[in-house]
Amino acid sequence: MSYYPLLLVALFVNLSNGATINNATALKYAETPHIATRPEVKIVGGNVTDIKDVPYQVSIKDGNGQHFCGGTIISEYTILTAAHCIVGTSKVLYVVAGSSKMNGGKLNRVTLAVVHIGYNNSTMENDIAVLRVQKSLQLDGITRKSLPLANFEPKPGTMCTISGWGSTYFDPGHAMGTELIEKTQVPIYDRTVCVKRLDIPSDQICAGFEQGGHDSCQGDSGGPLECGGYITGVVSWGLGCGEPNLPGAYASVAYHREWILRHINSSLPSASITIQTSFILMFTIITTMCNVFRI
Ligand SMILES: *[C@@H]1O[C@H](CO)[C@@H](O)[C@H](O)[C@H]1NC(C)=O
Ligand SMILES: *[C@@H]1O[C@H](CO)[C@@H](O)[C@H](O)[C@H]1NC(C)=O
Ligand SMILES: *[C@@H]1O[C@H](CO)[C@@H](O)[C@H](O)[C@H]1NC(C)=O
Ligand SMILES: *[C@@H]1O[C@H](CO)[C@@H](O)[C@H](O)[C@H]1NC(C)=O
Repeated sequence: MSYYPLLLVALFVNLSNGATINNATALKYAETPHIATRPEVKIVGGNVTDIKDVPYQVSIKDGNGQHFCGGTIISEYTILTAAHCIVGTSKVLYVVAGSSKMNGGKLNRVTLAVVHIGYNNSTMENDIAVLRVQKSLQLDGITRKSLPLANFEPKPGTMCTISGWGSTYFDPGHAMGTELIEKTQVPIYDRTVCVKRLDIPSDQICAGFEQGGHDSCQGDSGGPLECGGYITGVVSWGLGCGEPNLPGAYASVAYHREWILRHINSSLPSASITIQTSFILMFTIITTMCNVFRI
């Protein structure tokens, strides 16, 4: 009987093309507070800003209320973030919206985390996840606002905004974030050139200057790459931060648009409860049959 939750998760994974972590407690995670698979991700070369300039940005916090990743508001109850922010991190997660400070604002409990089933921590393919929060994000359009999903990948050279509370320089030993949110501008990088510099998977795009200097860094993972008012990328990884000829890599929202839309809808509590209840029923029936027939 104690194997119930794992089996339910496994069943859900196969059918929904997304690993569902209800109440963010169903899977056992290693207790690593900071993101760490590929050499790290962060805002380098940015300026302190106000949440009113990036009202779609949220902080994702662990069970102790410590910031460890960014995210983007995509609906009243839904946050878009990176899979690597969720897998192997805290089992209790909170979101804070509407605060310029890393340590400010009200904690909103994550009740459901859907991680892309195809997430691969070595290739970084499908590094996306959708979180549902317990309470309304109270979108006021000033400090809390949702962003529409990009329909296409912008042309190289298009200027986009990145933001977050992450490190301002690369120092993996001392991943210090900033108390006040920072943002900067980076151009979309030519894809062919990027593939030569970073081994990005087909669902990722790159952004940064040839000469470096402006980039996301540790603690910015999961946060937004915003282009022309659309959420276009999810901060994923990089080699160092802001190095010349090494742009940052972002999961492409246009590429994953259908998956994200599907999970905005499927993360509604009623749908999720219905599906999970039917699995419990199914499992109970199978278990009973197995006991009866001694399979
Ligand atoms: C999440 O699970 C914990 C422990 O099982 C429980 O105490 C809490 O009430 C649950 N929260 C929600 C929002 O379901
Ligand atoms: C990557 O994923 C594999 C398989 O899911 C797991 O065994 C491994 O520990 C993960 N590596 C890291 C660095 O998280
Ligand atoms: C991740 O991708 C690598 C390279 O394609 C592959 O060898 C590995 O099996 C994949 N891991 C998982 C967990 O799918
Ligand atoms: C940061 O502020 C400086 C000085 O005001 C300005 O020159 C620079 O363009 C700003 N950078 C960004 C990315 O906004």
